[in-house]
Amino acid sequence: MKVLKTIDLLKVEIENIKKSNQTIGFVPTMGYLHDGHLSLMKEARKQTDHVIASIFVNPLQFGANEDLDQYPRNLERDEQLAKEAGVDILFCPEVAEMYPFEMPMSIQVHKGTNVLCGQSRPGHFDGVATVVMKLFNLVQPSKAYFGQKDAQQVAIIMNMVQAFNVPVEIVQCPTIRESDGLAQSSRNVYLSENERAEASIIFESLKKACDAIKSGILNRKEVIQRVKEHLENGMGEIDYVDILTYPELEIQEKLSGKVIVAVAYLYEKARLIDNDIIDIE
Ligand code: PAJ
Repeated sequence: MKVLKTIDLLKVEIENIKKSNQTIGFVPTMGYLHDGHLSLMKEARKQTDHVIASIFVNPLQFGANEDLDQYPRNLERDEQLAKEAGVDILFCPEVAEMYPFEMPMSIQVHKGTNVLCGQSRPGHFDGVATVVMKLFNLVQPSKAYFGQKDAQQVAIIMNMVQAFNVPVEIVQCPTIRESDGLAQSSRNVYLSENERAEASIIFESLKKACDAIKSGILNRKEVIQRVKEHLENGMGEIDYVDILTYPELEIQEKLSGKVIVAVAYLYEKARLIDNDIIDIE
């Protein structure tokens, strides 16, 4: 596996791959890799000739009071894990390499940002879309892999690709969980021992929603209420619980079709998100 820190070195590799007419699968990440990230890399390994992953903690997508400075980092460990997952090229630029000057423009996301994390984290998805567009232009993948864990992000990236005719296929991969159901996340390291012990209530609360919907309760507010009631047993605080159509992310009071039940839950140092996507017959 090659570890590249500069755009110039990456360009040489991409040019060579393109000359040989081989396909590129791309996995953008912010590092501190876990099984969720690795599952995307393994999927890319199965589906494409060359697997490129990036590790870049993108300042543009962090709000002023968020965890940019504390975001966990361990490049040495990440390199080993990425290699084992079958990555060919790991691109890990410094901030000055990606943003050598103040960005003269950015992508503004107009659809799907008035709900869920878009509402709690203003500007976040503009930052995500801008860096992912830059990375797509650099890596020129035929397929790019994203986790359902960040389902709103996938929906927005799919819209971006369609809106700007980016020639890349977006592959959405399932959420990887710990044995108690907690979705794997780089931010789980922020949890105290007690918080970690109860954090599966987030997953359990999603199951409550799924069970309610399957039992025929299709009133959006009623299902949201059940999720909230379960989360109120925990020591954290609810940021949001919502149910929307997926991938459109629109409110629908009587649930039908494909819907997402999404939760953001605040522990002392960690804001955790999770979701379930349910197909209502
Ligand atoms: P990051 O949070 O590092 O996640 C990188 C990718 O891994 C995303 O597609 C995310 O959905 C996926 N992922 C995270 N946890 C997962 C899990 N438990 N199961 C399956 N997939 C999981 O998302 C970002 O970074 C950034 O916003 C990025 C797209 C890299 C842009 O900066």
